[in-house]
Amino acid sequence: MLRAAFFGLWIGFPLGLHAVDFKRDIAPIFKKHCYECHSEASGKKKNGYVFDDLKVLAGDIRPSGMIDPGRPGQSPLMELLTLPPGDNRRMPPDGDGLSPKEIKLMRDWITEGAGLEKKSTTKPSGLTPKKVPDKPEAPAPEQWTSADGKVITAVFVAVEGGVVVLKMNGKPYRVPLEKLSEASRKQAVERKP
Ligand code: HEC
Repeated sequence: MLRAAFFGLWIGFPLGLHAVDFKRDIAPIFKKHCYECHSEASGKKKNGYVFDDLKVLAGDIRPSGMIDPGRPGQSPLMELLTLPPGDNRRMPPDGDGLSPKEIKLMRDWITEGAGLEKKSTTKPSGLTPKKVPDKPEAPAPEQWTSADGKVITAVFVAVEGGVVVLKMNGKPYRVPLEKLSEASRKQAVERKP
């Protein structure tokens, strides 16, 4: 889990390759559970928190803010959402609260950097995003080192253009070759089919 968080930051975040999409996955959760008391739409801004104005929400996304990007464990929001029913700080205050699935989405969203926009196609030209093939056999994970010396363990999938596709915890990550150490770059390129 820790590794996944780190990996998401190192690779997923800068490239904007989010598995969780704010608009698709997170906004509906806020809408369903929070807008009633925290939105411009309802005119209620309990404690100043508004979740349908992205500018206001963005202000709460920062280290030491309600949402600490990349660190769900340090994000007071996650704590509020997961308090037991009856705790008077729990959000939403009444009802069943978020489902385990919604909580997981929220946590994953924060882990991936709590982005508000889809940063889709800022890849260098000539790189067409391809679907990562799902291989039937399970290849063994290998160690990869980033250009600045961090080590992660992931399964090699493919090299596409200047990008190596790695898989961790079943999720594909695309890493520009120049972000890898020389040895890892070689490791990737030599595996090219
Ligand atoms: C029924 C109304 C209601 C709903 C629904 C609701 N809240 Fe709140 N929220 C409040 C009130 C009232 C406060 C102020 C509580 C206090 O000061 O004790 C508050 C405070 C907060 C705070 C500030 C807490 C703090 O410690 O400063 C956050 C963050 C928050 N809510 C997030 C949410 C989120 C996220 C949701 C949806 C999952 C949500 N709320 C749903 C009424 C609501």
